Amino acid sequence: MSDQTSNNATDAVEMLTAQHREMEAMLKQVKESDDAQRKSLFAAAADKLTMHIKSEEEIFYPAVHRARTEDDLLESLEEHLSLKRLLADLLEMDPADKAFEAKFKVLKEQTEHHHEEEEEKLFPAVLKIIGEDQRKELGGQMLARQEELAMQGKPRTEVKDETASAAPLP
Ligand SMILES: [Fe+2]
Ligand SMILES: [Fe+2]
Repeated sequence: MSDQTSNNATDAVEMLTAQHREMEAMLKQVKESDDAQRKSLFAAAADKLTMHIKSEEEIFYPAVHRARTEDDLLESLEEHLSLKRLLADLLEMDPADKAFEAKFKVLKEQTEHHHEEEEEKLFPAVLKIIGEDQRKELGGQMLARQEELAMQGKPRTEVKDETASAAPLP
């Protein structure tokens, strides 16, 4: 493959796990923020979540789709749908509002639960299915996709068009 899949590329599973911790820290910051900071902190967390979810759906999940991972992947896609719906709602709301606080709490809890599911069920299965070289190749491809989405600006705005049903699993 191309340069982005060279040896120093990051293993996809390691990269996604590190991003989970990063996003959890960002959501914690939003929760602890004051009214003045909340909007921009939430926008940054929503961008990060959107880029992560989209790179999983477009690149990682299709690449690790096997009979034994299918149930976990389909459940994950439904969890992504739920996260996208919550994000789309929250992006329309006033972050200083009480209703925002309640819905944000649900987003934070569901995100943490989803990360736990991926790390405890899906990722261990992936480590058995594909080798390190392919994981690095996927890590490079996902990072490139995330950077592309970031360059387009405000990736979070895309979730509102993806709330009708779960993404397909090719
Ligand atoms: Fe993830
Ligand atoms: Fe995910």
